[in-house]
Amino acid sequence: MSTAGCAIDFGTSNSSVALLGGTVGDARQEAFRLVALEHAHTAIPTAVFFSGEDGSRAFGRAAVQAHVEGHEGRLMRSIKSILGSDLIDRTTEVGPGFMVKYLDVVVAFLRHLRQRAAQAAGGPVERAVIGRPVFFVDDDPVRDALAERTLGAAARAAGFSEVAFQFEPIAAALDFERTVSRETLVLVADIGGGTSDFSVVRVGPEQRARVDRNADVLASHGVHVAGTDFDREVNLAAIMPLLGLGSEGRSESGAAIRVPNALYHALSTWHLINTVYLPNRLIELRQMASLYVDQRMHRRLTTVLECRLGHALAAMAEAAKIDVSMHGHAAIDLSMVEDALAGSFDAAAQQAALSGSIGRIAGAARQAIAQAGLSPSQIDALYFTGGSTALASLSRAIAAVVPDAAQVDGDRFTSVVSGLAVDASRRFG
Ligand SMILES: Nc1ncnc2c1ncn2[C@@H]1O[C@H](COP(=O)(O)OP(=O)(O)OP(=O)(O)O)[C@@H](O)[C@H]1O
Ligand SMILES: [Mg+2]
Repeated sequence: MSTAGCAIDFGTSNSSVALLGGTVGDARQEAFRLVALEHAHTAIPTAVFFSGEDGSRAFGRAAVQAHVEGHEGRLMRSIKSILGSDLIDRTTEVGPGFMVKYLDVVVAFLRHLRQRAAQAAGGPVERAVIGRPVFFVDDDPVRDALAERTLGAAARAAGFSEVAFQFEPIAAALDFERTVSRETLVLVADIGGGTSDFSVVRVGPEQRARVDRNADVLASHGVHVAGTDFDREVNLAAIMPLLGLGSEGRSESGAAIRVPNALYHALSTWHLINTVYLPNRLIELRQMASLYVDQRMHRRLTTVLECRLGHALAAMAEAAKIDVSMHGHAAIDLSMVEDALAGSFDAAAQQAALSGSIGRIAGAARQAIAQAGLSPSQIDALYFTGGSTALASLSRAIAAVVPDAAQVDGDRFTSVVSGLAVDASRRFG
């Protein structure tokens, strides 16, 4: 008999779902399976495309594809970042006459995940443990609590009747715990798209048998700095200058200035990209033409807004980041903006662009250990998960915080959802 419960890793960049299986009545039975969400893929981009042509929606890779193919409509990405912000109650135009509330985008995405889980289960799925970052919003407990309530309300609107939350890094610790044979103090580093989260957890075969694990979670701390911030920093360093960021301008009185940078920043921030396409932003940009000393720069930026190339450029920045992380260099082809326009990026430039963020993330790791009342040398293992841990400069900086700990690479994309399933099976099983 199905327990009709599931676990959801609702990530800033990617999401996945695990369906509980096994036999009701055995609380320790932690049987679960990952749900194929799109063809065989168990992780899909957290993306929704709203068609402006007929109001239909596409999710995951199909959403990104619909946008790339140039269909009329809006691509929504990084919707998790909107949870703690003012945007959540606002609406956005997805096509002529079609308005959608940002919150409804989250609901639509969660409903899609629930439907996929129901298909896999062969019946409705009512209960969910949903992962959450340690902080949705840094240094603002009121907004942070609001973000969790909002996600809970969205999950109920998507059809779940029972919703519980677990910190993402604690989930990762529960996944790691399935592999340990003796008591271990682990620092979990979950560096994803939106947040870098750390937990210090005591795991082990004996601990594993306990249902209440509060005493084993010694600290959790996080910062709202991760992969999508790296994309922004790469974008601002490698792409936006070719569209005029930082270039010379002239004020109306003839004084030398820098051209205004607000549009460049919004264009480089995944969840703000749609805001640059509002009609008044294009009008403003046209009026700014006289400020640009180099008119080519103004033309390029105008093309980006008119042709709605923001998501494509952000995807290029992300690809450049990953190319540099894997091969040390990246070529950036901007011919969609202007014939033969191109840029490049390398490891030294990436190091310079990301060093402030990497420093903040390593600082959060140190703070988690201090909050646990431990010194770094007491940590036995460092467990990595999340897509951004592939960045060698970042993982080195975190490893340097706990030089004596054994480094364990978890599955970058499924560790959190697997641990959430362990948690869900204990709660619902
Ligand atoms: N090889 C790579 N090098 C650097 N970054 C990478 C690599 N592969 C993936 N990433 C980055 O990992 C991030 C996505 O990781 P992940 O799927 O763990 O995040 P998420 O769970 O969606 O986000 P969060 O947990 O913060 O809400 C993206 O920013 C992506 O660019
Ligand atoms: Mg994650």
